[in-house]
Amino acid sequence: MKRICIVGISGKLGQYMTKHALDLGYDVVGVCRPESVGKLDHFGDRITVFPGRTDDRDVIREAVKGCDGVLTVLAPWGVDNYASGTAQAVMDFAAPDARLIFSCGWHITRDGKDRYSWKLRLVEWLVRKIGPLTRFVDLNDQIEATRRIFASDRLWTVVRGSDLEEGPSEGLPVWAEHVGDPVLASNLTRRTDFALFMVHALTDDRLIQVAPAIVGRNAPSVQQIRPELLLGP
Ligand SMILES: NC(=O)c1ccc[n+]([C@@H]2O[C@H](COP(=O)([O-])OP(=O)(O)OC[C@H]3O[C@@H](n4cnc5c(N)ncnc54)[C@H](OP(=O)(O)O)[C@@H]3O)[C@@H](O)[C@H]2O)c1
Repeated sequence: MKRICIVGISGKLGQYMTKHALDLGYDVVGVCRPESVGKLDHFGDRITVFPGRTDDRDVIREAVKGCDGVLTVLAPWGVDNYASGTAQAVMDFAAPDARLIFSCGWHITRDGKDRYSWKLRLVEWLVRKIGPLTRFVDLNDQIEATRRIFASDRLWTVVRGSDLEEGPSEGLPVWAEHVGDPVLASNLTRRTDFALFMVHALTDDRLIQVAPAIVGRNAPSVQQIRPELLLGP
């Protein structure tokens, strides 16, 4: 794998993914809103940027050309189907054998077997109900985006992030198939390591058509419950 596209490259997660991908020797192209291009100045000519909204099908078509992998930040912004439009464009235009990695949070469930705390359920319910009224956030559209991904036969991975914190890398996060697995109980990951996992997923075939829920490898729930997981990648 040589060339990858990062859709939503100018955000915090996008910039961490860019750094990790460059460190690993990938050619990196990316898509971000025109007003955000300046946030990427520090990468200089090491990346190629296609300015545009991430649900702009013409921009995505051009950006993913020749890419072996696409890392997409699925963000539930606005009330005009931004997340589902973004996911659809990536799935429609990426090469058939490209690895497609999408980000979201634990609130997304693939098979309904995740077990959430009452607090997580309450927060999710409030954001889902109140978000669209503010016209800033539409969690239902992010849910629709992942529904389409789960239904597709593309080589996808949907990485479900826990709560995030800033700080230096602790290494590759640990993952479980379902929220509610005791190993995830600490519910905290460094944002840079979320990005590390997204990039790692490009080349880990065990993650094809899987929706891993991740947690930081130094989290107490990992150290105390499944320390053996720290032996592998
Ligand atoms: N925040 C958390 O605690 C958390 C927890 C778990 C999972 N996640 C997941 O992590 C991913 C990244 O989320 P993040 O919160 O950490 O933010 P982030 O990395 O800063 O990314 C936000 C993205 O949304 C774009 N954006 C911001 N405002 C927008 C608008 N009004 N219209 C269109 N695009 C807009 C940003 O682009 P610009 O640079 O153009 O603004 C950026 O690409 C998401 O998939 C999220 O579901 C987040």
